[in-house]
Amino acid sequence: MRIVLPGGSGQVGTVLARHFHQEGHKVTVLSRTPRQTPWLTVVWDGKPTTGDWMDAIDGSDVCINLAGRSVNCRYGEANRLEIVESRVQTTNLLQRAMETMSAPPRVWLNASTATIYRHSLDRPMDEVTGELGGNEPGAPDTWNFSIRMATEWERAFFANSLSQTRKVAMRSAITFSPDRGGAFDLLLGLVRRGLGGTQGSGQQFVSWIHEYDFCRAVKLLIDRPDLSGVVNIAAPNPIRNCDFMRELRLAWGTWIGLPANEWMIEFGAFFLRTESELALKSRQVVARRLKDAGFEFLYPEWSVAAQELVTRWRRQEAGGVPETVAARA
Ligand SMILES: NC(=O)c1ccc[n+]([C@@H]2O[C@H](COP(=O)([O-])OP(=O)(O)OC[C@H]3O[C@@H](n4cnc5c(N)ncnc54)[C@H](OP(=O)(O)O)[C@@H]3O)[C@@H](O)[C@H]2O)c1
Repeated sequence: MRIVLPGGSGQVGTVLARHFHQEGHKVTVLSRTPRQTPWLTVVWDGKPTTGDWMDAIDGSDVCINLAGRSVNCRYGEANRLEIVESRVQTTNLLQRAMETMSAPPRVWLNASTATIYRHSLDRPMDEVTGELGGNEPGAPDTWNFSIRMATEWERAFFANSLSQTRKVAMRSAITFSPDRGGAFDLLLGLVRRGLGGTQGSGQQFVSWIHEYDFCRAVKLLIDRPDLSGVVNIAAPNPIRNCDFMRELRLAWGTWIGLPANEWMIEFGAFFLRTESELALKSRQVVARRLKDAGFEFLYPEWSVAAQELVTRWRRQEAGGVPETVAARA
C-alpha cells in the first residue's frame, strides 16, 4: 500500500511509519522540515498552498493525518490558538486537496483524542454511550480547552464528505512506545528517579494503548470498509493511576516511588512548561467499535504491557534498534 502521513514525524507518526515501512508498504511522511528517514519524507508547510505533497497523496491508498502543534506546552492564549488552528487548518487543507484529486486515498484516518470524553470516575466511555466533556462543574479550564479543541478538529474533519474516501477519526488514548522523548520514556524517567509514586488522589483512570496494538488497530481501520466515523483506540482495561504507577514501578524493579499530590503536580507541570491534565484527568475510554469488529489486543493488561515496554526500553538504551510488531511476530 501507499501510505501518506501528514505530520508523521512526531511520536505517533514515527511508530506508524516504522511499522508500515517494515511491513513493506511505501510510506511517505509530510513534514515542514526535510529530514533523513528510512521512508520518504516530502516537505509541505501545512498552509493553504499547493505543492509536491499533493502528488504524494494523489493515487495513494491511505492518508493518516497527525499534524498539529504539540499539546505538550502551557495553554496560554498563543499556544491555544496554535494548537487549534494547526489541526483545523491542516485538516481543511487536506479536504480541499483531496476534493481536486483524480485518485484520492480510499481511506483517511485523522487523529483525534480520547481526551474528548468527560472526566470519568464512574463508568467507561465508549463511542456509543460515552459522554463528551466540556460542561462538567469544577473542571479546570485547561481540560475544557482540550475538549473544545478536539470537538472543533472532528467538526472540521466531518464537515464535508468525499465520495471516494472513507473517513475515520481516531480517538486515541496515549500511545506508549519505548522511544526516547515519548510519553512512556517520560513516565519511566519519574520511576527511575524514585518519583514514580501515585499522582494526585490516584483514583483517576489512565487510558493507554501499547504501540503494537495501536498499529494493528490502525491496520484494521484501513482494511475494514464498514468502519467510518469516530473510533476509540484504547486498551480494554483502563486502570486507576495508583495501580498504573505501581505496575510501572514493579516492571522497572522498584517498590519505591515518591507520591505527588495535586499541588506538587501543578508546580511540576508549571516548571516543565506543560499542563497537569495528563496526570490528573480521569480517562476511562474503551474501544467498543474495535471490539465489535473482532479486534483482539496483544496487550490488554497494563502490567504485561509495562514489562514489555521496560524490556525494550532497556534494550534500546543499550544500543538496540527499535522493533516493530512485524519484526517480533
Ligand atoms: N501521542 C499520543 O499518545 C496521542 C494520543 C492521542 C492523540 N494524539 C494526537 O495525535 C497527533 C500525533 O501525535 P504525536 O504525539 O505524534 O504528536 P507530535 O509528536 O507533536 O507530532 C505532530 C507533528 O505535527 C507537525 N506539526 C506541528 N506543528 C504543526 C503546524 N503548525 N502545522 C503543521 N504541522 C505541524 C510536526 O511535524 P513537522 O514539524 O515535521 O512538520 C509534528 O511532528 C497529535 O495531533 C496528537 O494531538 C496523540
